[in-house]
Amino acid sequence: MSDGTSKSIHVLIEQEKVEQKISELADRLSKEYQGKTLHMICVLKGGVFFLTELAKRMHTDVSLDFMCVSSYGKETISSGNIKILKDLGEEIEGKDVLLVEDIIDTGRTLACLLEELKSRKPNSLKLCALLDKPARREVDVKVDYIGFTIPDVFVVGCGMDYQEKYRNLPYVGIIT
Ligand code: IMP
Ligand code: MG
Repeated sequence: MSDGTSKSIHVLIEQEKVEQKISELADRLSKEYQGKTLHMICVLKGGVFFLTELAKRMHTDVSLDFMCVSSYGKETISSGNIKILKDLGEEIEGKDVLLVEDIIDTGRTLACLLEELKSRKPNSLKLCALLDKPARREVDVKVDYIGFTIPDVFVVGCGMDYQEKYRNLPYVGIIT
């Protein structure tokens, strides 16, 4: 595909494979949270496409909330260095929380966010990401549910952007 500005995108993971994987994850989650309400928290903006596709396929009750954070950059590496641009609409105390992300890269954003959420005393807190790029990990984060493990390439689509574009592509692509 060409976007008319000399960048072309080639498919890394086809739409059909993405959708199949999301269905598999939803089945697993539905089993594990059977009889409970899963409180799914989306990290904006990238996680929103994955979250809605996952939620649509769940067989247990779900509730949703959204959060938007920005990291302060790589020079500030200690915990607590994320800026909350939009906080959750509801308390999470006592809830079974699943944090839903598009991709785990260095893990820095997530490590900070998980600490913040843990301090709010949920009953349980797990992490689900569509993609994992372990080659670039700088901080150890335990990802409980992963769609695909990918090599160290910059990807777009399924919520992920390059300069705010391409989030809406229904497949995972690589810009060349
Ligand atoms: P990190 O794990 O703290 O390094 O940051 C992860 C965030 O960086 C993700 O939630 C994405 O928003 C963004 N990101 C990391 N890798 C990519 C990529 O390959 N394409 C698009 N966004 C990415
Ligand atoms: Mg993100």
